[in-house]
Amino acid sequence: MHVGILGGTGPAGRGVGVRLALAGHDVLLGSRSPERAVGIADELGMSNIKGGGNFDAASFGDVVVLAVPWEAAMPTAVEVENAARGKVLLSMANAVAFIGGKPEPVVPSSGSIALGIQARLPTVRVVAAMHHVPARSLVETDVALDFDVLCCGDDRGALDRVMSLVDSIPGLRSVDAGGLHNASAIEALTPLLIGLNKRYRARTGVRIVGI
Ligand SMILES: NC(=O)c1ccc[n+]([C@@H]2O[C@H](COP(=O)([O-])OP(=O)(O)OC[C@H]3O[C@@H](n4cnc5c(N)ncnc54)[C@H](OP(=O)(O)O)[C@@H]3O)[C@@H](O)[C@H]2O)c1
Repeated sequence: MHVGILGGTGPAGRGVGVRLALAGHDVLLGSRSPERAVGIADELGMSNIKGGGNFDAASFGDVVVLAVPWEAAMPTAVEVENAARGKVLLSMANAVAFIGGKPEPVVPSSGSIALGIQARLPTVRVVAAMHHVPARSLVETDVALDFDVLCCGDDRGALDRVMSLVDSIPGLRSVDAGGLHNASAIEALTPLLIGLNKRYRARTGVRIVGI
């Protein structure tokens, strides 16, 4: 698959990009500064990872990953709307605020970042996924992954595509988490995991038992 990553210069986007490239996909890391993304792609030194602008990444990808901070998620998605039309937009953005140093969920009026983007950009097929896999574990490719990935979306074909992309990464198992309304619960779980990471000095993730 061709995967374009908006904000692909950050740890989350870069980590997803590296793991997908190792799984054989072609990746374009996007950035507001194309030179920055090209430099990072060059440093990674993998023939199937290139760098460019965010619009280039949206044009390149069959799946376009939204890996920017939550405040930037909507404006970034809107900026690339023309390139992403009809495509799958994988939102991994978590809305987290640190109140007195403690992570708390920020719930947008739309219910979640993913739902807000879907409402604003109806021609893009939004799927929410990859919120709970720590970026550091993705980037450190000698670390074996062992996580479930909750995936939700209202477009069956788009959801299946993201789930197969997730399953192509060794150590990740996609879980069909239903419609996009469930993105609110998925996004809101992240601050809890960040708190666990601090208390236990760990890199926690999600594992669903019983299925
Ligand atoms: N870190 C994790 O462990 C993790 C795990 C799962 C999901 N996530 C989610 O994934 C997203 C990215 O996480 P991250 O830790 O990689 O974040 P980050 O490093 O803060 O940002 C990622 C990239 O977004 C771009 N960016 C920053 N501010 C922007 C703005 N105002 N407008 C447009 N682009 C902007 C930057 O790229 P350029 O300057 O090159 O444009 C930056 O390199 C977040 O929503 C986060 O909640 C993170």
